[in-house]
Amino acid sequence: MTVEEANPNRRPHTAVVGLQWGDEGKGKIVDLLTARHDVIVRYNGGANAGHTVIVEGERYALHLIPSGILYPDKLCVVGNGVVVDPETLIEEIESLRRRGVEIGQNLRISNRAHLVLPYHKEQDAAYEEFLAARTGLGEAGAAIGTTRRGIGPAYADKVRRSTALRVGDLLHPRRLRDRLELACRLRAAEMTALGVTAPPPDPIDLADRFAAFGERLRPHIEDTVYRLHDCMREGRSLLFEGANASLLDIDHGTYPYVTSSNCSSLGIPAGTGLPGRHVERVVGIMKAYSTRVGGGPFPTELDDEIGHRIRERGREYGTTTGRPRRCGWLDLVAVRYTAMICGADALACTLLDVLSGLDELRICTAYRRGDETTERFLPDAEDLEGWAPVYETLPGWDEEIEEASDRASLPQNARRYLDRIEEVVGVPIELIGVGPDRTQTLTAAAWGD
Ligand code: IMP
Repeated sequence: MTVEEANPNRRPHTAVVGLQWGDEGKGKIVDLLTARHDVIVRYNGGANAGHTVIVEGERYALHLIPSGILYPDKLCVVGNGVVVDPETLIEEIESLRRRGVEIGQNLRISNRAHLVLPYHKEQDAAYEEFLAARTGLGEAGAAIGTTRRGIGPAYADKVRRSTALRVGDLLHPRRLRDRLELACRLRAAEMTALGVTAPPPDPIDLADRFAAFGERLRPHIEDTVYRLHDCMREGRSLLFEGANASLLDIDHGTYPYVTSSNCSSLGIPAGTGLPGRHVERVVGIMKAYSTRVGGGPFPTELDDEIGHRIRERGREYGTTTGRPRRCGWLDLVAVRYTAMICGADALACTLLDVLSGLDELRICTAYRRGDETTERFLPDAEDLEGWAPVYETLPGWDEEIEEASDRASLPQNARRYLDRIEEVVGVPIELIGVGPDRTQTLTAAAWGD
């Protein structure tokens, strides 16, 4: 039987990726798309990501488990490219169960996903403190401003290999203990070098705790690569949920102020074991303005009353860390670049309602340094230094738009703003967010409902 015969009405396998520095409101769009797909797949990142979904008035904040878990008939897969903190994962499973969410065979976790251990979190904090103390590099020193969830050190171990641990190791207590002995010894030496005086991790204790986590996760652990290929053969449609966002991509973001995984759609093949050609459609999520948390360049940042207003109206405080987000005008040089590398077929423009009431709006369409102008993004923090945004100014709108029912019913100036985004980025906007609720998303006619 061919795939087409298995399911002639299959929706295209689709990826949802953030096109800015995160927090673009992906959760709501993923939720909307989940209803149209059978299998929801995470391919990168870890508990540094966070998204909130509101379903039937209930608010769920998820970090590792795809929000598809809230639908009983969806299969949720945590792919091999993710770094899993088993303690956080078990807490998330338990807290969902307490609220009546069934979690069984519908959650599959790759045996090859790497583990985040408690010492990774300690290392993350210790490196950040060490780097922050380097003077002459601005207020935060050389720190990245990480979420301190141990993401960077866990991926560093993955690359270093000999001290890494994977989810599958949780099911082999002997292997777990041997690996941990080596890893803990190395860790103790590194922490001493960083001036950390805390007692070194105890490998026996850790091995026991983690073996117990393994027992609890055992029903969910498997080789997800085969599972995903089987799903495709059976004609099921896949939704790839990118965590973090494209400007934080380790290879293509504002390095070194990035996270440690490929969060753009380019991470999908490696993070799932599926050839890239299977990603048939990419929906890029962008907010109607820009935000960023942590350090790093942000050419359109607004350190003024308008930035403050956007932060308050947009409730721009981190889901994972509660940190206030830096806010600024929409940077379309950046979005055009990430839409290009991700191969975005459609855009979702979220949080448009936050901009209501501003007299005028600015969008950045190029960068200028002295006499030089460029329309190209510079994905390197130091290269980007010294470039100033070139703005276009558009008229704002006064009306609140939360009740809008379609794009045509938006105020004329809001439509102008969206039209201009499409022109500059060269990709159609098919979804528009006008409020936090599931129902406050305006969909293009092609979406059918
Ligand atoms: P890490 O991922 O914790 O190592 O943090 C690296 C950088 O990525 C920091 O600037 C974080 O604030 C940022 N970051 C990581 N995940 C997210 C996210 O989901 N949304 C926004 N920023 C993020």
